[in-house]
Amino acid sequence: MRLARKTPLAIAVLGLGRVGLVTATSLAAAGHHVLGIDRRGKWLAELAAGRLGWREPGLEELLRRVQAQGRLRLQDALEPALADLDLVAICVETPAGPEGRLDCGPLLVALASLASGLRARPADAPPLLCVVRSTVPIGATEELLLPSLVQGARSAPGEKFELALNPEFLREGTALADHRSPSRIVIGERLPGVTRRLLGIYDATQAPIFEVGYREAETIKLLDNAFHALKVAFANEFGRLALALDLAPARLAELFLADGKLNLSAAYLRPGMPYGGPCLPKDLRALLTAARARGLALPLLEAVEASNRLHLTFLVERIRALVPPPGPLLLLGLSFKEGVEDVRGSPPLALLTALVADGYKVEVVDPELERAPVLALPRGARLHGRATLARLAAEARLLVLAKRPADLLGMVPPELPILDLVRLELRTPAEAGCAAASFDARC
Ligand SMILES: NC(=O)c1ccc[n+]([C@@H]2O[C@H](COP(=O)([O-])OP(=O)(O)OC[C@H]3O[C@@H](n4cnc5c(N)ncnc54)[C@H](O)[C@@H]3O)[C@@H](O)[C@H]2O)c1
Repeated sequence: MRLARKTPLAIAVLGLGRVGLVTATSLAAAGHHVLGIDRRGKWLAELAAGRLGWREPGLEELLRRVQAQGRLRLQDALEPALADLDLVAICVETPAGPEGRLDCGPLLVALASLASGLRARPADAPPLLCVVRSTVPIGATEELLLPSLVQGARSAPGEKFELALNPEFLREGTALADHRSPSRIVIGERLPGVTRRLLGIYDATQAPIFEVGYREAETIKLLDNAFHALKVAFANEFGRLALALDLAPARLAELFLADGKLNLSAAYLRPGMPYGGPCLPKDLRALLTAARARGLALPLLEAVEASNRLHLTFLVERIRALVPPPGPLLLLGLSFKEGVEDVRGSPPLALLTALVADGYKVEVVDPELERAPVLALPRGARLHGRATLARLAAEARLLVLAKRPADLLGMVPPELPILDLVRLELRTPAEAGCAAASFDARC
């Protein structure tokens, strides 16, 4: 049965901590009937009295208002109310567990109580939409949460319940403001569109909504926070460098942040080829040398080169997994980036060298090098003009894209497998579910 979309919705929020309370009060303020549930009775008594106990601008006032309006009721258990609900938002804690994995214990306890209530849900009721807002480990929704609900509710998903993930991106201290105007909303679904955009709870929002699979939703939440941590560590490394150089860290930060074109932008943030060229590698090394000369350790920046080298090795291994030596391979692109003929420090050239050393026969086409001086290529590799592309493609077993010149791609036989390193699309035809052995944008 399809999920029922209506206004207002009857919603329960399970777990009234930082995330749950913001979720519950905001949904109540939007006009829904909300039942707030927490297992801690004392905490519920505080909330019932309109006391929050922590500083969160606007939240205490909102809590009092929605309670006075009768839109938010508080309870210590879910079960009696389950039959009439449209949606349950689960916001319980997922603390750090052993070996860095998030502990899903509290979440499983909450799902168990939900599942036992689901068993009694009338057969003719639409599925109850269970939305996990807690941050969960990658893979947990599919492998742990869904099976626990299926087993506990004795129902397949889509029958008595539907399970979705809707990670929260709020920050404490600006929680309400962040929740009200998020940069984006992510909805992880079991099947595309099945949650009917979480029954319309975000209809009034201006933020873009992304409906994705469970794994993407789980990963983006962790990736965002990993990036924020990376930014802090990077800023502190250049702050320490500034001090070692007798510079003011805040002033250096101002200069750095003034570049919105390359520093604070989407530039360099798409997975693809390793970095290279005549400047990035040598300038990074120069910065690290300057730091070392002052006895300063910058472990984050020190690790960048190793990460870049590892990425090249990874690409070679992926090629080997697809087509073993000697190939033949056709490499499209040799200069260090699109639109230039400079091969100094070129990652495609490094890739070519590694492939030839591995025993591959590699033919290379780069339209931007047709008028460039003769290159010293690794032995056995040959650089050709665009005129020979069709013939070389017909002989190759794999086309490796280090550039994507649209006009040339049209000249490639449609059945030739393509490994697109510019966009890091490294799937095999089988993984991509393509009938033909082509696994780039064509499938
Ligand atoms: N705090 C943040 O800034 C923030 C931001 C985004 C995401 N998150 C994530 O959201 C989740 C919740 O975080 P939080 O900071 O709100 O946690 P919290 O510890 O403040 O609140 C969790 C609440 O859930 C209650 N609870 C636990 N098990 C329950 C059960 N079975 N039934 C009823 N209530 C139960 C607890 O009593 C507690 O009040 C975590 O996964 C966290 O990583 C937190």
